[in-house]
Amino acid sequence: MQNLIVANWKMNPVSLEEAKNIFEQIKSGTEGANAEVVICPPFVYLAELKGLTLGAQDIFYEEKGAFTGEVSGEMLKNLGVEYVIIGHSERRKYFSETDEIINEKMKKALESGLKVIFCIGETSGERDAGKKNEVLERQIKKGLAGVENLENINVAYEPVWAIGTGNNCSVEETKESIDFIKKFLALSHVEGVDTRILYGGSVKSENSGEYIKDAKANGLLVGGASLNAEEFVKIIKSAE
Ligand code: 13P
Repeated sequence: MQNLIVANWKMNPVSLEEAKNIFEQIKSGTEGANAEVVICPPFVYLAELKGLTLGAQDIFYEEKGAFTGEVSGEMLKNLGVEYVIIGHSERRKYFSETDEIINEKMKKALESGLKVIFCIGETSGERDAGKKNEVLERQIKKGLAGVENLENINVAYEPVWAIGTGNNCSVEETKESIDFIKKFLALSHVEGVDTRILYGGSVKSENSGEYIKDAKANGLLVGGASLNAEEFVKIIKSAE
C-alpha cells in the first residue's frame, strides 16, 4: 500500500492560470514518485487540470435537483474525480456541518464510487479538557454509521489547533492518536481492511518525513504548503 499524499488547496489560488501553473510543476516534479498523490483544488478548476489524480473538497448528499450551489458525487465521478474530502474542520466550523450531515455525505460519496478522505480531529479546548479520544471516537462512529466496508475510506487525523497555525502536532502525540484510531476502527469494523491513516496540520517538508517514519502515518493531508509546488514535491519525496 503506497502512502497517500493529498493537497488540499482550500479556496486557493484565485486564478485558473495560477492553478495550472502550480499543478504542472507538481506534475513534473512527481513523475515516477513512489506515493499516491491527489490534488484537491476548488470545484471550478477540477475540469481544467489533467494528469494527476484529483479530489474534490466537498460533495452534496443528493444526486441532482433543486439544490442551488451544490455539487453531487455523480457529477464528480463523471468528471473523472476519484477522491473527496469529507468532514474537514473548516466545513464543520464555517458551514455548521454536523456528524450526521458528514455521514450523509460519506454514504453518498461511497455510493457514487468515490474514495473518501475522512477528516477528524479535536479542538484545543477538547484536547485541554482531556476529551481527545472521546471526540475522535464520536466523529468516527457517527461519520461512518452504516458504512460496512472501509475499503474506500482514508482517515485524516487533523487536530484543529494544528491547522494553519505552524503549531504542528508532535510526532509522539500523533502516533498515539493514529494508534488509537487504528484500534478503534479495527474494533468497530470488519477485520482485515488496511485503512490508511493520514496526518494533517501545518505539514511542511521539514517535518513531513517524521510523520511517515516515526508516527507511522500512511500519508499526509497538506494545506498551505501544497500551494508551493517545490515544497509540496519535497513533502511527497519525504513520504516515499
Ligand atoms: P495546513 O497544512 O495549512 O495547516 O492545513 C491543513 C489542512 O487543513 C489540510 O486539510
